[in-house]
Parts: sequence; C-alpha cells; structure tokens
Amino acid sequence: DEENAGNTKKQIAKLFEASLKATVPNELDIEPLVAASTAKFGDYQCNNAMSIWPRIKGKGTEYRGPPAVGQAIMKNLPPSEMIESCSVAGPGFVNVVLSKDWIAKKVQKMLIDGIGTWAPTLPIKRAVVDFSSPNIAKEMHVGHLRSTIIGDTLARMLEFSNVEVLRRNHVGDWGTQFGMLIEFLFEKFPDWEDAKETAIGDLQEFYKASKKRFDADPVFKERAQQAVVRLQGGEPVYRKAWAQICDISRREFDKVYQRLGIQLEEKGESFYNPYIPGVLEALSKQGLVEESQGARVIFIEGFNIPLIVVKSDGGYNYASTDLTALWYRLNEEKAEWVIYVTDVGQQQHFEMFFSAAKRAGWLPADDKTYPKTSHVGFGLVLGEDGKRFRTRDSEVVRLVDLLDEAKFRSKSAILGRDKAADWTEEEVEQIAEALGYGAVKYADLKNNRLTNYTFNYDQMLNDKGNTAVYLLYAHARICSIIRKSGKDIEELKKTGEIVLVHPVERALALHLLQFSETVEDSCTNLLPNVLCEYLYNLSENFNTFYISCKVVGNEEETSRLLLCEATAIVMRKCFDLLGIVPVYKI
Ligand code: ARG
Repeated sequence: DEENAGNTKKQIAKLFEASLKATVPNELDIEPLVAASTAKFGDYQCNNAMSIWPRIKGKGTEYRGPPAVGQAIMKNLPPSEMIESCSVAGPGFVNVVLSKDWIAKKVQKMLIDGIGTWAPTLPIKRAVVDFSSPNIAKEMHVGHLRSTIIGDTLARMLEFSNVEVLRRNHVGDWGTQFGMLIEFLFEKFPDWEDAKETAIGDLQEFYKASKKRFDADPVFKERAQQAVVRLQGGEPVYRKAWAQICDISRREFDKVYQRLGIQLEEKGESFYNPYIPGVLEALSKQGLVEESQGARVIFIEGFNIPLIVVKSDGGYNYASTDLTALWYRLNEEKAEWVIYVTDVGQQQHFEMFFSAAKRAGWLPADDKTYPKTSHVGFGLVLGEDGKRFRTRDSEVVRLVDLLDEAKFRSKSAILGRDKAADWTEEEVEQIAEALGYGAVKYADLKNNRLTNYTFNYDQMLNDKGNTAVYLLYAHARICSIIRKSGKDIEELKKTGEIVLVHPVERALALHLLQFSETVEDSCTNLLPNVLCEYLYNLSENFNTFYISCKVVGNEEETSRLLLCEATAIVMRKCFDLLGIVPVYKI
C-alpha cells in the first residue's frame, strides 16, 4: 500500500489488523499493537492477544487463554511476501521475522526512487512552528539557542513529511521596555533620526544604561511610561524610533540564524496587537472573560489563578498576545497544528491559554484530534559547574561568540591532522563549520529535551562517542569507501542487486527500513532525540557490518557497495532533518 510505503511498522500492523478482524470478528475497533522487537525471535511483535483475552473470555469463545489467541492471530495473518516466519511466545506475543529478500528489495527500491518515498505521512497539511522568538533589546540567550535548534529540527521533520510549515519567530517586540528605550534614545542621541548608522551601538549596553536611568529618575520614568502609550497609539516618531531599535536587534539575531542555516519568518508580538480587541470582544460575548480585581481574566479549570488578558491598567500582556496569535494561526493561517518551543518554565502559560482556547471552542477538548496545539518544553543549559551556562567573565553568553568558538576549535582540530594539508582554505572553512555548528546542534538534540544538558566543547567536539563529529566522520568514511571502489554507484543502483548474505548485513538493512517509522515517531511525539538515537545506532550497525564484511574486492562487492550507499543516504537525511551539514571527506 502506497501510503505507508516507507513505514515498515505500519505495513506489518496492516497485516495484523486483517488478522485481528478474522480472529475476533465480534470485537470491533481493535487497534493492532505492533512494535519493533529487540528479542531474538523476531523483528516485530504483536501484543494484542493479552488484552483481547479478558474481552472475550466468558463470551463462549473457542480460545483457551491468551496464548491460544496469539496462535490464532498468527494463523490468520494474510499471506505476505514481507514475512519469512512467525511464532508465538510466552503469554501470546506473536513474533514476525521479516523476509530477507523483501528487506533487500525495499532498500533497493529506495535507492532507485529516492529517500523521499520513505517520508512519513501525517494527517495534516499545515502547521505553525513558533520557535527561537527572542526579545528585542534583551539578550538572546542559550535558551533561545535551544529553541532555535529544536524548533528548526521539528520544522524540518514536518516539512519532510510534506506538511507546509509556517516558521514563526514570535519576537518580543512590544513590551513596556520600549518606552524607556525610546526616551533614552531621544535624550542621548537627539539627532538619531538623521544619522545614517544608528548611534546606539551595543543594544544590550544601551538597554542596561536606559534601565539604570529609568530606575533612578522618576521624571524619566514618567516620560517612558508616556512613551509606551504614544508608541502604542501609533505616533510616527515613536514608531520610527521603535523600528530602529528593532532593526538593531534583528541584525544581531540574524548573525545566529545565518551561522546555523535557520529559516524563520518574523511575526512579532506587535503584529497581533491590532487583533487583540476583536478577539477579546468575541471571547467576552461567549461569556469567557470576567472581571477580577480590576483586571479582565479567563478562569480555567485546574488552575488556582486565572489567565489575565487585560491588566488592571488596561494594557495587554503576553497572554493576550498569545491567545490572539493562536486565533490568527487557526483562523487566518488555517494551521492544524500549532507548536511552541520554549523552556519548560513557561509550561503553565501555555497550558492556560490552550485551555482557554478549548473553552472557547477553537480546539477540540482532547489532544488527539486536530487542530491541536503543543508546547515543546526544554530544560536548562548548564555549565561545567552545574549552574546555568555562562561564559567566563560575563553574565551573559553571546551566542555568536559561542558558535564561533565551536567553529574555531574544530578548525584547529582539522588543521592538526595530516590529511588537511591538501585541502583548500575554503574546504577547511566549510568542514570546520559543519563540524562546529553540527556539534552544538547535536549535543542539544541528542538528549531528551526536558532534561538539562551540560555545555562542554571538549565533549561535543570529541570524534569518538555519540557526537556529531563522530557521525559526520562515519558518513565521510562510507563515502570514501564508495569512492575508492572506483565504481559508478549510480550505475550500480540500476544494474546491481542487494543480497543479504551475512546476518550483520541483514541487521543493517533492517535498521535502514526502520528510518521512516522512526522519523514519524520523532516528529509526532516532538522528540528529536529519538531520531538522534536512530542515527547513532545506524552508524553502530554500519561499523559492525564493516568489521565483518569486506566490501571492495569481495564477491558481494556490488551488493555491499549498495548497502554502503543506502546507509550514507539515510545518514544524510538524518543530518538534514537535524539541521546538520554533511561532510564528505575526512
Ligand atoms: N519571547 C519569549 C521569550 O523569550 C518566547 C516566545 C515564545 N512564543 C510564544 N508564542 N509565546 O521567552
């Protein structure tokens, strides 16, 4: 069946679905429970027998206990070229051994039709991924780096699955801090409007200085608060000053995005501002918005504080904007899945306005049907000392410096190798970037995102162990095996045949076949570490294969070169989905 062409698990599940219908025809809607198996009796396992038994016993069933149900499930499997053999184990697990020929053929088919045929199929057309989202004039810190890296990967996995992704940078460009910044700009640089280059220079320093002024002088403070009102009222000079300040920040953010190859479309908080009154009005009409201690709030079951949508001073806040942005994304942009990537510290904020959206009927009450929202939370980045990550002598980490340092270190490592001698300057630069930035990304993505992770250059740039450097080198090594064979691999794809002779060849090919279901898992559960683990295991499987199986000069050379090529293709797709640039030589 074409729809699950790449998804081996779903293809097996389809067979079990048919078998379950035949085995227990009176039990409707039994979902096949199929999982890849690590047991030695099979490649996949169906676990339905144990849960079916209690449903049918006492209803005059012919079966005697779960193992008998398992036997029947096995016997009722429709004949399929996928399956080599089946068995029932223990309390009724049905184990399936896939056919070696079928595995080989599927890998071969991918080589011809392309890895795109192994893309997952998701039941949606359009999604919003809201990620990175730093705040103007404030530092873009390592938390934003995590959001950028994780969000980009999720967007890439969705895009690969043929979902149109609106990559949204929800920058904080509308806070009350702008009043203070604008007034400080007027005061400090009276001719700010005429200057070609902005005089502000370092925006973070400027922020600090203006904050100091704000805290010290009540008259200035008063002016700053007025400035917010005038800015929000749309007064041209204030808008212009605001735009100039935003631009400086934007240029800083772009340096990070450019290094990491991140595509993003900015729709900052300010964008949604004009829509807020209308949305709140509609919610009020539904009776959702109530008065509480001078503020306007939405009460939400399960929380002891309400969601404030209009502050007691009449101003809007983070929640009013987010609620409105969600309305816009669902109604104007027709997104079916809206995904937000921030630190876990913001979880409650998201849970609250998601609940409000459910109360308003924008979203179904369960989290399974679309349209739906997901908050992708992540933990802290820690330094060697186990505390929040900082660079040695400043309280903040400049992300650009952090990335440059990773590149610098990998460049030194490359130049320390003999091989680099005949590389061009440009090649060294490219490879240093691929390794350095790839290392930073992979170190972040390989952990379950909810755990804190320790930032350590030596660890992430190590060429052994579960690191990007190790994986990129492993890929380059495979490419070099193929190159050194002197064979035209494109030609071999058409004329050659994969034959899985050795058990380790079979294990490698089977792992390749599990790519699609893994990406689908990783994507639908919003867990990039699942894909990282797959990639690492792939390279381990390849190593085992390469140790036991001579490739070049062996009588199975063609088949083995094709396995090398398939491994390289799948590794490259994994890199691509993780936002890592592959390396072809080492
Ligand atoms: N600007 C926020 C911060 O730096 C993140 C925004 C996340 N997106 C959202 N729609 N709330 O913490």
